[in-house]
Amino acid sequence: MATIALYSNKGGVGKTAAAVNLAYLAAANGANTLLCDLDAQGSSTYYFRVQPGIKRKARGLAKGSKEILDSVKATTYAGLDLLPADFSHRRLDLEYAERKKPTERLAKALEPLRSEYDVVILDCPPTINLLAENIFMTADVLLTPLIPTPLSVLAHRQLLDFLSEHEYRPERLYAFFSMTDLRKRLQREQLTDARKTLPRVLQTVIPYLATVEQMGVQRAPIGAFAANTPAAAAYRDLWAEVQALPLKHIPA
Ligand SMILES: Nc1ncnc2c1ncn2[C@@H]1O[C@H](COP(=O)(O)OP(=O)(O)OP(=O)(O)O)[C@@H](O)[C@H]1O
Ligand SMILES: [Mg+2]
Repeated sequence: MATIALYSNKGGVGKTAAAVNLAYLAAANGANTLLCDLDAQGSSTYYFRVQPGIKRKARGLAKGSKEILDSVKATTYAGLDLLPADFSHRRLDLEYAERKKPTERLAKALEPLRSEYDVVILDCPPTINLLAENIFMTADVLLTPLIPTPLSVLAHRQLLDFLSEHEYRPERLYAFFSMTDLRKRLQREQLTDARKTLPRVLQTVIPYLATVEQMGVQRAPIGAFAANTPAAAAYRDLWAEVQALPLKHIPA
């Protein structure tokens, strides 16, 4: 079982788009997959046409209990389940702060789910609080979408430093370029520069493409409504690269 977090403390960089498409591709390639929507906004829940909300008895992801399994919903795609967003997720960090071992609460809450799946993908909210530290503790790989602009690259450096300083094993953090417009000279320069100076930047570049925006209208992963497009191909390339990372075994 491999846990892959789509994480960035910057908002609107393509985390959810990647989480939804990678989860779809993992399942389409035969891995029994769970997508966990950790964001109270519920975007990935919306894309899969699932109702948000976790059963009250399970108390969201605040408490570690087997009841969480009752909240998992099937999607319309074979091998792909979803743990929906819940409004309570907005204050998970506050709940965790009051508990023992506050950085290990999410790992504990996900434990009953992880054993059921080959791949668990976490769609994370854009925060760097105690919930983020829980994500750093529980993920095998952190995947960060990076827009090739100076501020995004700076934020990524800060994240690498944070992980190092707090001993969160920064060697698990990978970046991929997201929402790129390589007609812009600044973006081309930033991309080239970042490849030279940042560690573990994947080869795949996800361009800024209208097909990705269409996901919001279609409410489906790209492979389901536009499989023969450059956007679909870009996410397939990304999944191929992610599969080849030093993760625990992902069935191909
Ligand atoms: N490659 C892309 N090309 C065009 N539009 C994109 C691309 N990736 C994402 N978008 C659009 O940009 C918006 C933000 O994307 P997304 O929701 O994936 O970002 P996010 O990092 O999850 O945001 P948040 O931090 O709010 O959770 C969405 O409307 C999405 O459709
Ligand atoms: Mg999101």
